[in-house]
Amino acid sequence: MNVREAVVVAHPNVALSKYWGKREGEGNFPAVPSLSVTLGGLTTRTRFRWRSDLAEDRVVINGRELTLEQASRIVALIDRVRRKLGLDAGAEVESHNDFPTASGLASSASGFAALALASVRAAGADWDAAQVSDLARRGSASAARSVFGGVVELDAGPTDGRVEDVLAARTVAPADHMPLVVLVAVTTDAVKAIGSTEGMRATMARSPYAEAWLEHAPVAHATLKQALLARDFVRVGELAEANALAMHACAIAAGVTYWNGGTLEALAAVRALRDAGTPAFATIDAGPHVKVLARPQDAPRVKARMEATPGVQRVVQATVGEGARVEGGMS
Ligand code: DP6
Repeated sequence: MNVREAVVVAHPNVALSKYWGKREGEGNFPAVPSLSVTLGGLTTRTRFRWRSDLAEDRVVINGRELTLEQASRIVALIDRVRRKLGLDAGAEVESHNDFPTASGLASSASGFAALALASVRAAGADWDAAQVSDLARRGSASAARSVFGGVVELDAGPTDGRVEDVLAARTVAPADHMPLVVLVAVTTDAVKAIGSTEGMRATMARSPYAEAWLEHAPVAHATLKQALLARDFVRVGELAEANALAMHACAIAAGVTYWNGGTLEALAAVRALRDAGTPAFATIDAGPHVKVLARPQDAPRVKARMEATPGVQRVVQATVGEGARVEGGMS
């Protein structure tokens, strides 16, 4: 039996300017550019094995084996690697998140980033990070960003693109570029009701503000990127909060609502912190949790305030971290 293996670690990321909306057609190309920070301290660890004796792929996440239907996006990515590298082995994937999967942190971003790198390295292929990022994007577009560390940008896809067009993320500033902590105020332990793929499709199909979002997002993105490169924390925070609110306003207008009571309480707590002189800003992804951007020196105060907020179950603290990397060698 021939087994080839790689173990990879990757981190989730939080978008400061959001990817919300896809280009028409196949290939999972975003309709708008996005900018994120990769979150250190929260880790997905994926062991990938190519096994010549395995007829069907096996996927185990956090100790639970998925059916092939549940794992269809994962198997689609593995099929692509098989095709590109001319392999006919089965794949065995074991992945574990050291943060709660329902914490609202993007486990699909770290998961697909780890899967992409591990599948390629286990096969002994020396694809560069951009090729791995392009592969990860096909599983989940935000995963293209988790391949890289620090501050990461993903452009919008080509307007008249074809499925084989390449679109990878890239680092625009290293992890230590601007001191930043992200405090995740977890407002429920339930798994989210509407996945992001479905949520963005429904938004684009039904929101009266979809066109306005698609026009506004690239402009907001460019302004935010500029503020970030200038290390202007307050401006970055203001723009990130405004971007998240615009994305959610657009989604809510289509009946795509991710918020709960705790989300509103947490947003009010962040405003109260600001009113009392602490620069803290909120962003929200496709879930009810509120991610608070703060300066490291303010982290204890912000964390305590968020923990005392009604509807907030707990607060998970993260910093800016590194991209996906191989931990174990090949055999
Ligand atoms: C709100 O990357 O999960 O977190 O490509 O359909 O898998 P798919 O979507 P996904 O969407 C992320 C949406 C977001 C914003 C962001 O991370 O940029």
